Amino acid sequence: MIAFTLQNNLLIIVGALVGSSGAILSYIMCKGMNRSFFNVILGGFGGEAAGPAAGGHGDKQAKIGSAEDAAFILKNAGSVIIVPGYGMAVAQAQHALREMAAILQEEGVKVRYAIHPVAGRMPGHMNVLLAEANVPYEDVLEMDEINRDFSQTDVAFVIGANDITNPAAKKDKASPIYGMPILDVESAGTVLFVKRSLGSGYAGIENELFFHDNTMMLLGDAKKMCEGIIKALEQ
Ligand code: TAP
Repeated sequence: MIAFTLQNNLLIIVGALVGSSGAILSYIMCKGMNRSFFNVILGGFGGEAAGPAAGGHGDKQAKIGSAEDAAFILKNAGSVIIVPGYGMAVAQAQHALREMAAILQEEGVKVRYAIHPVAGRMPGHMNVLLAEANVPYEDVLEMDEINRDFSQTDVAFVIGANDITNPAAKKDKASPIYGMPILDVESAGTVLFVKRSLGSGYAGIENELFFHDNTMMLLGDAKKMCEGIIKALEQ
């Protein structure tokens, strides 16, 4: 509007490009969340549902592990799929994560990355961070390409991600994320979750996966946890 007011053609072109890129990104985001544009803009998300878990889920307690436990499980795995999320971005853990993956690959472990379309806070958020850390493109796969492989994978290493793995999106019709496609990390042999607490993510809802028998919670900052695992792998 300012460009039209100023009758500045360059500004009109730039404004149109920015506007259309925003529209495309919004479309990708809505498709990834399986929600309409107006639902996303007007509906809000989460908060009104269950709050953070206190440490238990019914009579189930979460298993809490250390960096040493994680290093042992990872180096004895044949295949690992890393699932990065918003917390990895906040912690700027991508470089330490790549270093950890490189050590595992040197030991013969098959390591790949699974990217959910709305992981993080904008489309492509994770791809940009992994590229910045020089993660090879061929190791980074989109959700549709890799989702079926979790069932033949020894370890799903979920780092700073939560909603994009939450089975409530498939099972719980009352959940605010119901209908959003998720990464099927629960079908991997072992699921490792790196996050600072048992608290919720963007949608504000509890994730029952934290209390599954094959899940181990690695509580701490994503970057520090990766550094701890690297140290344990090197020993
Ligand atoms: P979230 O569900 O938001 O989970 C991120 C997790 O990271 C949190 O549970 C948090 O747990 C953890 N965390 C935060 N800081 C950390 C740190 N320093 N170290 C380790 N963990 C940390 O993220 P997600 O799984 O990536 O899902 C994205 C969510 O954002 C979806 O609900 C999606 O719909 C929404 N969203 C996405 C977009 C796009 S386009 N990507 C746009 C708008 C909204 P702790 O506090 O326990 O550490």
